[in-house]
Amino acid sequence: MNAASTESARESRSRPSGWNGEMVHAAFQKVAESRQWTAGYRSMDVDRIACDAVRLSAPLPAGLRGTLFRNGPARHERGGERYGHRWDGDGMLQRFHFTDRGVSHVGQFIHTEKYNTETARARFLLSAFGTHIPGSDAAPDPIDAANVANISVLHFAGELLALWEPGSAYRIDPATLSTLGVKVWHPSLAGRPFSAHPRVEADGTLWNFGADPLNGELTIYCVARTGELIRSHVARLSQLPPIHDFATTGNHLVFLLSPLVVSKERLDGGASFAEACQWLPRQGMRALTIDKRDWSERFYDLPPGCLFHVANAWEDGNGTIRMHYMRADNPMSMIAGWSVMRGEYRHQEGARLTEVILDPACGRATQTTVGELESEFPSIEASEVGREYTRVLCLERTSGRALESPGYDQVAMVDVDSGRRQQFTYGEDWLVEEHIYADDPGSTRSRWILGMALDLRAKQSVINVFDANHLGDGPVAQARLDRPLPLGLHGNFRSSRADL
Ligand SMILES: [Fe+2]
Repeated sequence: MNAASTESARESRSRPSGWNGEMVHAAFQKVAESRQWTAGYRSMDVDRIACDAVRLSAPLPAGLRGTLFRNGPARHERGGERYGHRWDGDGMLQRFHFTDRGVSHVGQFIHTEKYNTETARARFLLSAFGTHIPGSDAAPDPIDAANVANISVLHFAGELLALWEPGSAYRIDPATLSTLGVKVWHPSLAGRPFSAHPRVEADGTLWNFGADPLNGELTIYCVARTGELIRSHVARLSQLPPIHDFATTGNHLVFLLSPLVVSKERLDGGASFAEACQWLPRQGMRALTIDKRDWSERFYDLPPGCLFHVANAWEDGNGTIRMHYMRADNPMSMIAGWSVMRGEYRHQEGARLTEVILDPACGRATQTTVGELESEFPSIEASEVGREYTRVLCLERTSGRALESPGYDQVAMVDVDSGRRQQFTYGEDWLVEEHIYADDPGSTRSRWILGMALDLRAKQSVINVFDANHLGDGPVAQARLDRPLPLGLHGNFRSSRADL
C-alpha cells in the first residue's frame, strides 16, 4: 500500500459510522466536567442572551468605537440528542458594542427556516453538515431548507448578512438582530450558494463565489459597494470539491481545489455531506484562476493538500500571482470535528501557513511552507484585500500544547517577506478564536486587533484588545463575559466612524 492509499484508508476509518444523537449526548456529558476544553463545545439552549456592561480590565482605547459581530454554531443539542459534528449547530450571532460607556453584548440565534421548524418541534429534523438525520436528505433541494447561517457575518451596503456556505446569506436587522429572510442578489441567482468568505476590495467592490460540488457549478458574484449586483457568472467544472475560501487579485479570482470529492453514492447511502467527502490525494491539488475581465479559466498543478482558509493574494505587473493559505496534508481537522462532540480529542498534524506562486508565463505553480507552527484563521487588513501585503495575522498552536487539547493557544502577526513576527501566547488553559484587525475607515493600517478567547479555568469568554503595533505586549484591555460562549468561527468589526 503506498502513502497516498494509506492516508486515504486512515481517513476513512476516522469517520463515524452511523449517528446516534443520544449516545453522542451521553458521551459528552460523561466527560464535560473533567475536560475543561469541552466548555467551548457546550450547546447554547436559550434563544437570546444579553449583558449591558461586560466587565472590562481597563478602559477601552479612545479610538476604538464600533461593533464587533461574530457568528458560529451554537445549538448543538435538541430533545436529548447531540449533533455529531461541531459545525452542525444553528448559527448564533454575537454583537459587542464598543462605546464610551464600555462594552455591551447580545447573542441571538438566527431564525432560519430550519431553526424555526426544529424549535417548534423541539427536535432535530434536518440533516446538517456532519450529521445525517434519518429520514432527511443530506443535500435537500432547495438547500436553504437546511441553512444554519452559522459561519460568518458581513456588514455590507447597509445590510448585515449571516453567512453560510452551501446556500444563501441571511439578512439580519443590525439593531435588533432579528432575522429578516434570505438575501437574493438577483432573481436569477436565488437559492444559489454564497460562501462565507466574500472579499471586499479597497474600492468597496465585493467578490464572492458559491460552490455546488454535486452539480459542478461555481457561481461568481461581483457586487458594487452600493449593494447592486454588477456581474455574475457560473463556471462549470468537471470535478469541483467543496471550497471554503478563495482570494482575489487585481485581475483574477484564485481558487485552490483539493482532491476532495463529494460521493453521490455515499450521500445516497445515508452519509451526511461531510461523511460523503472522499479524500483522493493521488489526484493532487489544482489552482484555478478565473480572469475577472472575461471569466477565462486557467489551471495549475500542485501536490495534494487540503485547506479551509486563504490569507490573501496579489499579482505583479507580469501577472505572477503570490498567495498565502493554510495548507494541511489531509482533511483531519474536519474529521476532528466529530470527536470533540463526544468530548474526545487526540491532536493530529494541522495546517501551516504556505506560500504559492502561480507563474502564467510558464504555467507552473510552486509552493513553500512558511509557517513553523500549526496555524489557522488567517486575517489581513481590509485595505490590502487582493493587493500587495506583508503581514498575516493568524492563530497558532504552540508545539508544547497537550495532544489531548484541541485548538490554538497563540496569536501571531507574521511578516511573510522578512519572516519577522510578533506573537502573544495565551497558554494551555485557553482556546483562542479568530483575531481580526479593527479596521478604521480612511486609514490603511489598523490601530487595534480584536480577538475572542475562552478562558477554560474561569469558564468565561473574553474579548481581547491589542495594540496592532505591539501584539507581543499582550492585551491592552479585556472584556470578560460571565459565561463561556460556544466557540465561534468568523466575525468582523465595524467602526462607528464608518457611519459618519
Ligand atoms: Fe472559514
